[in-house]
Amino acid sequence: MPTARSTPNSAWIKYWGNRNDVLRLPVADSFSMTLDGPTVEIDIDHADTLSVQSFNPDGSERILKDRDIQRFQKHLDLTKSYLNKLGAHDAIPASITVTVRSAIPAAVGLASSSAVFSCIARAYQGLVSQNLELNDEQTSVIARLGSGSAARSIFGGFSALIAGEGDGIDSSFGRQYVDENHWQLHDIILVPSTEEKKVGSTEGHPTAHTSPHYAARVEAITTRRQQECIDALINRDFERLQLVVEEDCNDMHKVMQTSNPPLNYLTEATHRITREISELRHSKHLPVFYTMDAGPTVQLVCTEEAVERVREFAHSQEGCQVFEAKVGRGAHLI
Ligand code: DP6
Repeated sequence: MPTARSTPNSAWIKYWGNRNDVLRLPVADSFSMTLDGPTVEIDIDHADTLSVQSFNPDGSERILKDRDIQRFQKHLDLTKSYLNKLGAHDAIPASITVTVRSAIPAAVGLASSSAVFSCIARAYQGLVSQNLELNDEQTSVIARLGSGSAARSIFGGFSALIAGEGDGIDSSFGRQYVDENHWQLHDIILVPSTEEKKVGSTEGHPTAHTSPHYAARVEAITTRRQQECIDALINRDFERLQLVVEEDCNDMHKVMQTSNPPLNYLTEATHRITREISELRHSKHLPVFYTMDAGPTVQLVCTEEAVERVREFAHSQEGCQVFEAKVGRGAHLI
């Protein structure tokens, strides 16, 4: 029975909008830093029917909604289609049992689906290893079938979800650019609200196309932003990285806010934090940038030299929970 461990990632060039929602084939490339925590562990085993159980670190059970179970079932069906395509027809004969142990607090605004589906993809890799040896790119395809951003958490360090072209199940996949030893960055995560968000990413992606700003967003990522982000990272050019990451974050939220229906994930607290950290960056010349996903949570990514000051800032924000992470090694079998 394989057990895998994984973590969320911090998206720097954001994945928003699919060319195929069922297969989670994105419209544009995206990029992220894999975090070293909080972790998710998953055991899977062969079974006659699907059963999924999820536990908190203290051993108490997290009650899953029907739609969560359905998501695992859909993911299993898609994984079987993909394995069939690779010629491993009976690698997963009937179904599986899944046991999830998650240290990701519910609704903190860290993409737990990226940790869960990268983790289960690694566990599938272990489960089928006698019939078929899946490489990392193939494992990232399995992760993507459950959650687009999960394809990036397969890898340690800094990686992309490559959009690719066409409707092939494996036409989009993850790719690592540099590993976790490249740059010792920190991610200080400020959570102003732990209310569960009303519209999750899966429901949000299909609305992206309704924004009048979406085409320009895709064009900017495809022709410039993704490459600028990769270059800045490779050269450890923090200032360039800050400019392109914040530009992309603000652009994604502009698309969300101008979609039909509009998606307003940011709150007063988010705006206050981003304004104050920008002022602090300016006055103290701090290497720090902000980024937000589909919620009010603000991630402050900074270098080792800035971490003390950024930590102090984070803890001075009233009504916010604060979490910390560094660069992680990605999904692995344990
Ligand atoms: C805003 O990967 O969570 O966090 O495939 O439906 O699980 P699903 O979507 P998901 O979308 C991520 C959206 C984002 C940006 C990002 O992580 O790149």
